[in-house]
Amino acid sequence: MCGIIGYVGNDNAAKIILDGLKMLQYRGYDSAGIAFHSGQNVEIYKCVGKIEDLEETLGNKGDVFSCGFGHTRWATHGSVRQPNAHPHFFGKVTLVHNGIIENYKDLIDKYDLKDRLQTTCDSEVAAALLDIFYSGDPFEAIRKLLEEIRGTYAFVVMFEDIEDTMYAFRKVSPIVACSHEDERLLASDLMPISLMTDEYFILPEDTVLEMNRKGITLYDADHNEVRPEYRKIDWKADQYDKKGYPFFMEKEISEQPEAIRKTIEHRITDGLPDLSKDGLDEDFVRDIDSIEIIACGTSYHAGLAAKVIFEKYAGIKTNVSLASEFIYSGNIFSKRPLFLSISQSGETIDTIEAVEKAKKAGYPAIGIINVKDSSLSRICDVSLYTDAGPEIAVASTKAYTCQLSLMYLLAFYIGLVKGKVGRDEARSLIRELQKLPEKVQEVIDRKDEFHLLSKRFLDHKDLFLIGRGPDYLALLEGTLKIKEITYIHAEAYASGELKHGPIALIETGMPVIALMTQDELMLKESSNVKETRARGAKVLVIIKESLLPHLGQKVDTILIKDYHDDFILFVAVVILQILAYYIAIDKGLDVDKPRNLAKVVTVE
Ligand code: M6R
Repeated sequence: MCGIIGYVGNDNAAKIILDGLKMLQYRGYDSAGIAFHSGQNVEIYKCVGKIEDLEETLGNKGDVFSCGFGHTRWATHGSVRQPNAHPHFFGKVTLVHNGIIENYKDLIDKYDLKDRLQTTCDSEVAAALLDIFYSGDPFEAIRKLLEEIRGTYAFVVMFEDIEDTMYAFRKVSPIVACSHEDERLLASDLMPISLMTDEYFILPEDTVLEMNRKGITLYDADHNEVRPEYRKIDWKADQYDKKGYPFFMEKEISEQPEAIRKTIEHRITDGLPDLSKDGLDEDFVRDIDSIEIIACGTSYHAGLAAKVIFEKYAGIKTNVSLASEFIYSGNIFSKRPLFLSISQSGETIDTIEAVEKAKKAGYPAIGIINVKDSSLSRICDVSLYTDAGPEIAVASTKAYTCQLSLMYLLAFYIGLVKGKVGRDEARSLIRELQKLPEKVQEVIDRKDEFHLLSKRFLDHKDLFLIGRGPDYLALLEGTLKIKEITYIHAEAYASGELKHGPIALIETGMPVIALMTQDELMLKESSNVKETRARGAKVLVIIKESLLPHLGQKVDTILIKDYHDDFILFVAVVILQILAYYIAIDKGLDVDKPRNLAKVVTVE
């Protein structure tokens, strides 16, 4: 789960690589490193910490080089310490690696490497093998390495005696590359590429890329030249800018009204959903008889909330699977399922593998994706892009609200095609959806109020969140935010389940957040709050204004203005995002880059 960038050209390689690594930091940020080919040998600089730390380690020592590669790491094998940072070297070989070599231990035994390695990393084993296999022909060495290793990988390699040249090969983990005038660039994703040119290609599996000043050449396993398949990018990565906010997360929370607006408005014609510009026509969905949603993390939570809407308004049985579990599932589907994957990054390996599995079985697949031209978008039949803009903070916020609003549109669209909702009803639902930006803005404007209330959770290790139906689904997302950025152990419970076990954990002073936004669930939810209070819990109730008179107890509350019951979940989630954000701020934590995490999970 790492980021890789390589450059050969006439410019200052250090600057280009460091700038690129900053863009790739979302893939991991526990350590970083860089290697340059000096013409005679390879120089390596690496350190524990973020790219800014690497920049400091390097100083201006890199400014003289015009060929090199860099790596930002999220540790898989080997702890977070300087020697384990990439690049790794062995003999004449220096390399960076993204992925996992599953059989590295067997290879250590087979090649008797135990006493010759300096680290516990699988990547160093690959460097050692390449060095053992290398006798002047890099392709032969790589061919032999590929015969030995099992796993997923993207490798970029320099050989000490081959000046200004690097080689790349991959399996599953992505590498894209481009050539522009005298410059060549390769990277784990398109963001650094987009700053150089709008033409790129994806390094195909089973080929080896050779990149030097003369150009980029691809070779297949028999050393025949392969013509790269060039593609166009019609966007340019934004330079990351917090726009005056202390953290990207706060900026991204505040961007939600505009991001939702951008995601839905251009897909509404005459008050009805119109997905034609996305390449989705009625025939694509007319005959589907179930929806199989696949996603991870926050995107999975968006899927759970969307299921309710797909079933209610499109009249279609919808299953939601964690992508990482789907891979092992029993494959029992309806006759004509539609696979709907959800991913902010479009690079989450579990989601990609699950969709590949569905595609191999011949099923149609739609992706709800934020990052254009990402790996997932390349395997889906149709990509419905959210217009959230770059999401940099590890904790996903605007991606969730945009994914969900787009899926509401999709549900109304399918409902119309299948005759489950009439045009008038669809128009009225779309009008409710169009109110979302304003409703979300209203709660963002109240962030100081939520900040004050969040202080009660600061000294607690555990937090319960309870609710039923859509409230429970909103809380699932809220707890993920709280866990990942505040390190408080937060659990969402379907209130009805409390008595089946979890209530045993409630003791005097335990903080609980209860969410109550649904008219028909209110009475039951209210008695669940009483049950926890009777056992000493200190409850904060987030409640829809019109339900307050029915609460029947005196507790601290956050009031949510009345809104359609099927849409109010968005507002509740934003409140929980803000509460989590301020808890993390007051604990003095790095909100954007929480410990142990990476923005994109590219290993299984
Ligand atoms: O890029 P994706 O939407 O596929 O990512 C899925 C999860 O890794 C992601 O939502 C993760 O759970 C976030 N850190 C949650 O805030």
